Amino acid sequence: MIDVRIAFTAIGLPGHFYPLVPLAWACRAAGHDVLMVTTDGFTAGAVRSGLPVASCGPAADFVDLVTHGGVQDEEYANGRAFGRIARQRLPRTERLLRDWRPDLVVSERAEFAGPIAAHTLGIPQVELHWGRAALPQYRIAAADELRPTLAARGLAGLPAPRASLNPWPPGLRLPYAGGHLSVRHESYNGDALVPGWALERRTRPRVCMTLGTVVPRIGEDVVSAWHPVLLALAELDVELVVAVSETVAARWPALPDAVRHFGWLPLSQSLGACDAVIHHGGQGTTLTALATGRPQVMLPVFDDQFDNTEAVVRAGAGLRLLPDEVTPASVAARTGEVLARPGYARAAADVATEIAAQPSTADTVRVLVDL
Ligand code: TYD
Repeated sequence: MIDVRIAFTAIGLPGHFYPLVPLAWACRAAGHDVLMVTTDGFTAGAVRSGLPVASCGPAADFVDLVTHGGVQDEEYANGRAFGRIARQRLPRTERLLRDWRPDLVVSERAEFAGPIAAHTLGIPQVELHWGRAALPQYRIAAADELRPTLAARGLAGLPAPRASLNPWPPGLRLPYAGGHLSVRHESYNGDALVPGWALERRTRPRVCMTLGTVVPRIGEDVVSAWHPVLLALAELDVELVVAVSETVAARWPALPDAVRHFGWLPLSQSLGACDAVIHHGGQGTTLTALATGRPQVMLPVFDDQFDNTEAVVRAGAGLRLLPDEVTPASVAARTGEVLARPGYARAAADVATEIAAQPSTADTVRVLVDL
């Protein structure tokens, strides 16, 4: 079948929207009609993907909507926030899908308005299952939040997707994900220019540090917490590049000379020019680092970041520091270790080979349109 209409739905966070972009581009390249569906506050970033974008709801910021009662119920609390976002966007999503009439809806795993609307309208729906963890509480909590909405549509719970696409290499997946369809992780990391140094031969070891897009917005003040870490890393005689949003970069005090770049980086192209990555275990960052074969020092902060970290450590591709182990000295010591012992880079390169062997997004388009 050619010329299929496919709606992609994601909540308004880079870590949720970006994983859909390469697949949507592959659908377009195959001649299909695609529409990216997100919410008001996120559309400016979404249109910079070069794809057609529609908004289906009021600005719904996950960080504002989530209310944590403590680490224990973190997964459930996040699921409740995803349920709230779905409730806000469902009326416009239903209208949009009814009028635009896609043949297929592809939703990232935490966006639930698309799946409910697709079910109501009899449109097949597929999930992009980012992250390594099963995260059952996401669906349980979202269903609790959406109970009356689901009941009004004759649903006892969230509708199950027809298939789940999984970008994690099979060797790093947990058993529950055995039946998922593999799709190669192809990185889309936003719309920044590739810096000149990323294309030149490097003369010193280079380390990238990033905390993703959500960690700097929650918890302790990122500048006071991370500036001392940066100073300790600068003692390692390496060049440092720091991938953070421009908003965070603007607040930072004077930087050590070792810092070559400080601001948003196109991660995939930049990590190819680094020898190690220090990061928070966000799923997009983790897969991007693995796909470029880089050894990692992982500093997980919340939710599925701990599971993604576990996968990297088990693969031998990096080391981890839990929140209460993180000090400037421990981060610098672990970074020195992954740089000094080639086994970490070799294990990361093996994972990169496995990622590269998965069906491409172009292959996946053919599977999707035949579902
Ligand atoms: P992810 O790693 O899943 O983490 P989080 O949701 O916690 O932010 O998603 C972050 C994405 O943003 C990932 O694709 C990497 C990308 N990114 C860059 O490419 N450059 C940057 O400077 C930053 C901060 C993020």
